[in-house]
Amino acid sequence: MDYTEFDHDDRMIARERLPEDRDEKGLRPLTWADYSGQKQVTDNLKIFIEAAMRRGEALDHCLLYGPPGLGKTTLAGIIANEMGVNLRITTGPAIEKAGDLAALLTSLQEREVLFIDEIHRLNRNVEEVLYPAMEDFALDIMIGKGPSARSIRLDLPRFTLIGATTRAGMLSAPLRDRFGMVHRLELYKPEELKVILKRDADILNIGIDEEGLNCLARRSRGTPRIAIRLLKRLRDYAEVRGSGIINKEIAEFGLDQLSIDAMGLDSTDRRIMSTIAEKFLGGPVGLDTLAACTGEDAGTIEDVYEPFLMQCGFIAKTPRGRVLAPQGWKHLGLTCPSDMDKRLSGLGISSKDINGSSQMTIDEMMENREEF
Ligand SMILES: Nc1ncnc2c1ncn2[C@@H]1O[C@H](COP(=O)(O)OP(=O)(O)OP(=O)(O)O)[C@@H](O)[C@H]1O
Ligand SMILES: [Mg+2]
Repeated sequence: MDYTEFDHDDRMIARERLPEDRDEKGLRPLTWADYSGQKQVTDNLKIFIEAAMRRGEALDHCLLYGPPGLGKTTLAGIIANEMGVNLRITTGPAIEKAGDLAALLTSLQEREVLFIDEIHRLNRNVEEVLYPAMEDFALDIMIGKGPSARSIRLDLPRFTLIGATTRAGMLSAPLRDRFGMVHRLELYKPEELKVILKRDADILNIGIDEEGLNCLARRSRGTPRIAIRLLKRLRDYAEVRGSGIINKEIAEFGLDQLSIDAMGLDSTDRRIMSTIAEKFLGGPVGLDTLAACTGEDAGTIEDVYEPFLMQCGFIAKTPRGRVLAPQGWKHLGLTCPSDMDKRLSGLGISSKDINGSSQMTIDEMMENREEF
């Protein structure tokens, strides 16, 4: 096994947080002014926050979903900051018992924001405590045991729950329905990533010119966390191999060294695509089969690799599995079978549907979760 290659791929492209992202905190925007992109989500949130502030109320509960590293945690921080209240952060798996959540809820202040990351991993008993808390700002507690047991209701302060998840399809319907708003974060466009990279390069004191920024922004999989990580790696190349400034040559040299191609694809992306091409003649192939053949985890393919490949228009998701689209064949330098368009339309997909959409809506995810 080629360990160097393995190392590169997993560390540079991984969307989840790695130890080297620990200084992320210093880069995390605290106000709208520093938060770029996600226009639709931020435009809506600004209005809802202002309305809630004017009425002196807590903001409605809010669910944020989308692939890792797109700014869900950051957004929760900005919301609390704009509302002028504290942000309490926890994660789904950290709340083990119903009592843990009850303790957390009763310690909240009026209008505070409780952020639960990975909310799809809450266990059922805990989730049930959350329902009346979200709906009626109340906590139902059982006192005593056996025939004399009775339930009493405690009032809670009016708080805002912000839930974040990369797996909206795994959320239970009753939980999802209790969120007043649901926002999907999208992969960023290169122009939006450029703004983020420029700001972060200034903060970290990294020299990068316009062409260097363009190159990096186009090859960061639409993900700020990956863009920031690559920026730091390219600084090393610039310092050791160049003049200290990240320009076009350094950016291209560095990204090539890291096996990231002109579209921002790494070797795992290409392996997923070539598996569909070579072993399944273009597909459709089910997620689990694809995972077994590529040696990747099915969840990782679904959360990390696929959204970007779909946004590039390289693969398409159909009711019968994944298909390698004509653009994908072209990117691999392979000849696309002449009946590919016909096969896609037989699966209810037209070539023009393929480009652009990186993710399913939450309703589609919930409908499709058993099928894939
Ligand atoms: N819109 C943005 N503008 C500027 N910087 C951003 C933006 N979104 C994300 N970032 C940067 O990317 C980093 C990762 O974002 P964040 O931790 O909020 O992602 P996340 O969606 O919560 O990821 P995860 O799903 O892994 O928890 C942040 O530290 C921040 O610096
Ligand atoms: Mg997060």
